[in-house]
Amino acid sequence: MLELRDVHSGYGETRVLHGISIDVHAGEVVAVLGRNGVGKTTTLKTVMGLLPCLEGEILLDGRRLDGARPYDIARSGVAYVPETRDIFPSLTVLENLELSLPLGEKRGGGWTLARVFEIFPRLEQRRANGGMQLSGGEQQMLAIARALLLNPSLLVLDEPTEGLAPIVIGEIHSKLAELKRDGLTILLVEQNFGFATSLADRCYVLGKSVVQWSGTSDAILADKDMQHRWLGV
Ligand SMILES: Nc1ncnc2c1ncn2[C@@H]1O[C@H](COP(=O)(O)OP(=O)(O)OP(=O)(O)O)[C@@H](O)[C@H]1O
Ligand SMILES: [Mg+2]
Repeated sequence: MLELRDVHSGYGETRVLHGISIDVHAGEVVAVLGRNGVGKTTTLKTVMGLLPCLEGEILLDGRRLDGARPYDIARSGVAYVPETRDIFPSLTVLENLELSLPLGEKRGGGWTLARVFEIFPRLEQRRANGGMQLSGGEQQMLAIARALLLNPSLLVLDEPTEGLAPIVIGEIHSKLAELKRDGLTILLVEQNFGFATSLADRCYVLGKSVVQWSGTSDAILADKDMQHRWLGV
């Protein structure tokens, strides 16, 4: 579904990615792992058109995505939940969700307000609360729910567990596992090794601006040497 072919990217003069290739097949959960500052967020921002793809190609279902504007990438079915979650603090939970409805309804698919409230009952209880009044876990759930309402074919998540308590991480894990069982395709960046490997079918490990390792989650769990070398696990 998504193909990164020899992608180079960075910030101004600073190149961060020096030719990375990643495939995500329909129905898969793929995790991108690596130490702090290795370029995981840069990879996702490049997919979303928020940073330029300086060399290489990005394809969605065989069509070029690189060079497209972020809103066109969203329209073509890629929904992004950034590290910063980007909840609108002055809007209520319901208003944050409603922002997705015009595009989500235009794209069509099974995601409705009723269905996100079924998966995230806490958001329904909090529907009239302001974005600012939510806990970190609730904000993460709202950011995921808002992305789902776009009826995406690919959900892109940047560190959904960051800053959350273990019990909340468990909750997010079970929600994502449910989405995976439903067949949603997910590209996930995570520092939490256990969380990532228990959800993902396959993993890519970034190091020194390139992909150092890729394989199944079972293979990464068995390879202690690689974990130590590139992840510091
Ligand atoms: N706006 C920016 N301008 C210049 N350099 C940046 C900018 N944002 C990130 N970088 C640099 O790019 C490199 C990769 O950053 P990136 O945020 O992609 O890493 P990451 O793997 O997501 O790290 P983390 O695990 O901390 O989230 C880092 O060296 C970082 O300092
Ligand atoms: Mg990051």
